[in-house]
Amino acid sequence: MTDYDLIIKQMEALADDSSDHIPIMANVSSLLFYAMEDINWAGFYLVKEDAKNDALILGPFQGKVACVRIEKGKGVCGTAWAENRVQLVPDVHAFPGHIACDSVSRSEIVVPLHRGGEVFAVLDIDSPIPARFKEEDKDGLVKLAEALEGIIK
Ligand code: SME
Repeated sequence: MTDYDLIIKQMEALADDSSDHIPIMANVSSLLFYAMEDINWAGFYLVKEDAKNDALILGPFQGKVACVRIEKGKGVCGTAWAENRVQLVPDVHAFPGHIACDSVSRSEIVVPLHRGGEVFAVLDIDSPIPARFKEEDKDGLVKLAEALEGIIK
């Protein structure tokens, strides 16, 4: 079982006095990627509002290369953003519209991050093991997301 409280402490120590989200997210991606067993991708997508339409853009991550842009409501990440809700997906093949960045991924969890009451990013973690993520992972990652929201101003 992943020690999420330890990861939160490490994240807070590494954040120092900085509230710049990119380096903090980069370190969180690394902390999660090396602390969690049986995962193949951990990272962030950032909400980008532009004249064309709002989308998620690839942010700091660890793992294989991933798709750069995800429209609102598309895939697991775009659904977490649109619904403002954690997506715990035991079988990605059963999730309508799942975006397969790495074909080995079998299960996934996506947690929305908020700033000023709005979703400004999502944390995405993929696993090659079906049903890898449990309720305790969801609880731990939501706690981590809340701590991250408190650091990023
Ligand atoms: N599977 C995600 C896309 C991002 S990759 O997993 C890194 C989705 O369906 O939104």
